[in-house]
Amino acid sequence: MAIEQQIDGLLRHVGLRVDHGLTPLSAALVVLAGVGALTAATFVLRLTQLFADVYVLPGQSVSKFGANKKDFSKATWAVVTGATDGIGREFALQLAKKGFNILLVSRSPEKLGAVAAEIEAATPGVRTKTQAIDFALGDERQYEGLQHTVKDLNIGALINNVGKSHNMPVNFAETAEDEMEDIIEINVVSILRVSRMIIPGMVARKRGLVLNLGSFAGQVTTPMLATYAGSKAFLSAWSQALGEELRRSNITVSLLNTYFVVSNMSKVRKASAMIPTPKQYVAQALKSIGRNGGAVGRPYTSTPWPMHAIVDWATSTILPRGWLLNYTYGQQVAIRKRAIRKAEKLAKST
Ligand SMILES: NC(=O)c1ccc[n+]([C@@H]2O[C@H](COP(=O)([O-])OP(=O)(O)OC[C@H]3O[C@@H](n4cnc5c(N)ncnc54)[C@H](OP(=O)(O)O)[C@@H]3O)[C@@H](O)[C@H]2O)c1
Repeated sequence: MAIEQQIDGLLRHVGLRVDHGLTPLSAALVVLAGVGALTAATFVLRLTQLFADVYVLPGQSVSKFGANKKDFSKATWAVVTGATDGIGREFALQLAKKGFNILLVSRSPEKLGAVAAEIEAATPGVRTKTQAIDFALGDERQYEGLQHTVKDLNIGALINNVGKSHNMPVNFAETAEDEMEDIIEINVVSILRVSRMIIPGMVARKRGLVLNLGSFAGQVTTPMLATYAGSKAFLSAWSQALGEELRRSNITVSLLNTYFVVSNMSKVRKASAMIPTPKQYVAQALKSIGRNGGAVGRPYTSTPWPMHAIVDWATSTILPRGWLLNYTYGQQVAIRKRAIRKAEKLAKST
């Protein structure tokens, strides 16, 4: 059968009759052009949405969650885990400035005291509490201590920030077992347990904000950081389920999909357009509450930092997954080699 007849048959089969003087071939071209135009329009629409979210549209106001910077005695509390360094410390400082009282949760009592003092000096009137807990231990007594501290607090925001990655990229088969277990205790179990303690109160009060610190490693999937990547992919799925359940109780849930930020964990010291400081990153995240940013079309997920947003959009829209896995694997092999060289140099010099 000639190609034109085959196309004609196909068009008629899907219900497109060719009765307007068009040959089957040109009718097929019209259909293809329509599909192409639709695809291009979706592409442009999504890109426009990304830029509008990142640069133009305002996020939800924190007053919706009970922040009150005029009178802290009427303000709700924000609970921040992993609050003594990096992104968590910035969330604590900036949420206080926006009118929340702050409960800082982290491992070391000395660092918790220092950050609480810093917050009180920077934001007169704010109330702070601290709770030392080492999430890696999964210790019941420590969780009970936290439960005791939160039980009478009117909590308006929960920032599930605490997280641990691998010391350096490593094949899963060679991952130290204690490192693997710590990552799951800290990145998965602690988030579930702390959220289970705090969210029922939010549901009862019909008000709340839950921000979960996700990672591109969970979105793109990073070989040689397999356990960390898996833990962040868990957070991504969990956040979406939670978001859908809790929106019915007027609670906003968002997974913050994060690429590199200057911090101890990332081991990046110098900020750039691609790698913000924690201060820059948190300011942008708090400006964009409830907006997708670069996570266009992914509910309850936000990629707030502009350059991260573009990378997120490109990796989830354009780049093939297999190519990305191969590229990321090569990147991690190079990072591991550098980390080993650095460790060897350090060992020689001491
Ligand atoms: N930085 C990045 O490039 C990046 C990228 C993607 C996602 N993220 C995510 O962002 C979050 C924060 O990362 P970060 O870079 O800000 O980390 P960071 O600078 O290393 O700070 C980690 C914080 O967590 C606390 N912490 C660590 N282990 C703990 C434990 N076992 N129990 C209780 N607290 C513990 C630390 O307390 P101590 O002071 O006691 O150590 C510190 O306050 C993590 O969930 C991470 O996965 C970061």
